[in-house]
Amino acid sequence: MKLTPSRRTFLAAAAPACAAAQAVANPKPALLGGPKTRTTPFPDWPVADAREERALLDTLHSGKWFRGSGQNVKRFEEAYAQLTGARQALATANGTAALFISLNVLGVEPGDEVIVPPYTFIATVNVVLRQHALPVFVDTDPESFQIDHRLVERAITPNTRAIMPVHLGGNVCQLDSLLATAAKHKIPLIEDACQAHLAEWRGRKVGTLGATGCFSFQASKNLNSGEGGAILFQDEDLRERAYAFHNNGSGLRMIGSNFSYASSGANLRLAEWQGAILLAQMTRLQAQAKTRSENGAYLTSLLKQIPGLSPAIHYEGTTNNAFHLYMFRYNSEAFSGLSRDQFLKALAAEGIPGASGYRPLNTQQFIKDSLASRGFQRLFSAQRLKQWAEQNQCPANDKLCTQAVWFTQNMLLGPKSDMDQIAGAIQKIKRNAAALAKS
Ligand SMILES: Cc1ncc(COP(=O)(O)O)c(C=O)c1O
Repeated sequence: MKLTPSRRTFLAAAAPACAAAQAVANPKPALLGGPKTRTTPFPDWPVADAREERALLDTLHSGKWFRGSGQNVKRFEEAYAQLTGARQALATANGTAALFISLNVLGVEPGDEVIVPPYTFIATVNVVLRQHALPVFVDTDPESFQIDHRLVERAITPNTRAIMPVHLGGNVCQLDSLLATAAKHKIPLIEDACQAHLAEWRGRKVGTLGATGCFSFQASKNLNSGEGGAILFQDEDLRERAYAFHNNGSGLRMIGSNFSYASSGANLRLAEWQGAILLAQMTRLQAQAKTRSENGAYLTSLLKQIPGLSPAIHYEGTTNNAFHLYMFRYNSEAFSGLSRDQFLKALAAEGIPGASGYRPLNTQQFIKDSLASRGFQRLFSAQRLKQWAEQNQCPANDKLCTQAVWFTQNMLLGPKSDMDQIAGAIQKIKRNAAALAKS
């Protein structure tokens, strides 16, 4: 008997197999009912084990919970200075305090001006406003997500008292150019390195190149004690003044001087608990930093091949990116018009959490309100405030804020295959972008 099937029955029988093969080769995105790319969570943050437990219990039982009586904070300062190559470090209550102390000891006073980026965490700007100084925003270089160093010099006025760039996301600003501008105008450079632990410029750790370098140890940071901060110094006198400022005006060289004070100040000290945790966390810091750097570089090699994605570039001179954030620009036109929000939603459905990042800081209403306040109106002429408003344009940053996508640092702490998965999920979304855009 002849068993050859007719063309119609053959096609009918083969169709499900073809569809299955196609579904494997080109699975539907999870948002449209397909399988999730990733079903396990990314590595946890923070990481802690018996080291932290012992450190906390030892501190508890010592009864020395304050830096004036214990040794943890002091030991941490010495260890962090040694690790970064700074002459000295000062631990502070948090990163905001580190910036605030820096402004104070570097002589930024009410009525002065400070140059800041518009693409940063709010604390960078808040400390300037709380000092009753004018934040002068310099646009962002969207290629790197950093302050546009080429535009800094033209923002300097006779009242500029500090330049405060941020090593955003753990990537590094163009420090050669920024340091040269600061030196030319004899203005201190305060490095906001709150997101950039162990990042490097020409082989030197960031935070050691400016007059001060400020770090945060808030819970999300690559070095974490829940809350906490530090300042790095090359100048011992400056460190002594900062110590006094953070200790209610009472300096180290004044110990024993009984309620007499070197300056005004505040209590911005770190507690011994945090010092203990930081010392324990530092035992893993370098290995974690290496994993982030390797995974970050590998992810860039994958994502830059996908048309429509532009990973943040490094300036020549960057010898290590701390990758507190993995940042790239997303161009929806290259994804069949799929908006950034839809892209993030589709990515989250694949098990890959991403974020859209900061909004433009320079145009926020609270800044206008601050400048309209009685104090600012007294300190700055109407003409200066009008000129500030006219010049407060950061078009590149405005656009960047509509395109940015971030991944958090813990996503870079797993195996290299996690990066392949991230890129694979994005490729899958791209192949199905038109259908996703319509959904
Ligand atoms: C760029 C930047 N500057 C300053 C800070 C302030 O640090 P903290 O939250 O420890 O006060 C942060 C914290 O997120 C930051 O990211």
